[in-house]
Amino acid sequence: MTSDRNDRNVIWFDGYVKREERNKKYGHKSGVVWLTGLSASGKSTIAHHLEKKLFEEGVKVYAFDGDNIRHGLNSDLGFSPEDRRENLRRIAEVAKLFVDAGIIVLAAFVSPFKKDRELVKSRFSKDEFIEVYVKCPPEVCELRDPKGLYKKARQGLIKGYTGVDAPYEEPENPDLVIDTTKLSVPEAVDLLYDYIKKRGWLEA
Ligand code: ADX
Repeated sequence: MTSDRNDRNVIWFDGYVKREERNKKYGHKSGVVWLTGLSASGKSTIAHHLEKKLFEEGVKVYAFDGDNIRHGLNSDLGFSPEDRRENLRRIAEVAKLFVDAGIIVLAAFVSPFKKDRELVKSRFSKDEFIEVYVKCPPEVCELRDPKGLYKKARQGLIKGYTGVDAPYEEPENPDLVIDTTKLSVPEAVDLLYDYIKKRGWLEA
């Protein structure tokens, strides 16, 4: 899917407010921080805490996570490889609109397949995309199991659960690795905050 829909007589209209103008007005850049990792690795926790920290500093920021998006926009999708790809494709497109709106998107999705993450990444330029691998071994995630889903997967009540009977392909070259077996939540949030700052995203 592309935004080039001339074949259907749908023509993109740029609008009168440019993204650069929004960035300037808001005092920071916009882009996507994509957090990938196993369920219970800590992606959403980090994203939501960082969202609060940035919001309190006046940054236009929004956190998306799998559980929330799958309640609404993607409630028609399951966890087959095809549905996961469509889940991520739609999220990438929504995130793209948010980036155009001048917002920093914190996207926390298992996104287990390398090729799907590549597809997401391909929708953004290098300077507006940060890939973060939230690293935690499956055994530890399974011990944490805050939603009881690993247990259900072990009991055979969920099929194709990532880390149990469905694969997770580790990112080979992420911009940042956050090992949540070594860092506390505040430490992880600070690490990511510092990285975003170092990339120059917190200034216009
Ligand atoms: S993704 O694979 O398409 O990126 P996403 O991040 O949206 O997944 O959703 C993952 C969340 O859905 C998990 O945190 C977990 O709570 C829930 N879930 C339910 N079934 C599965 C499954 N089979 N595999 C992984 N997560 C699942």
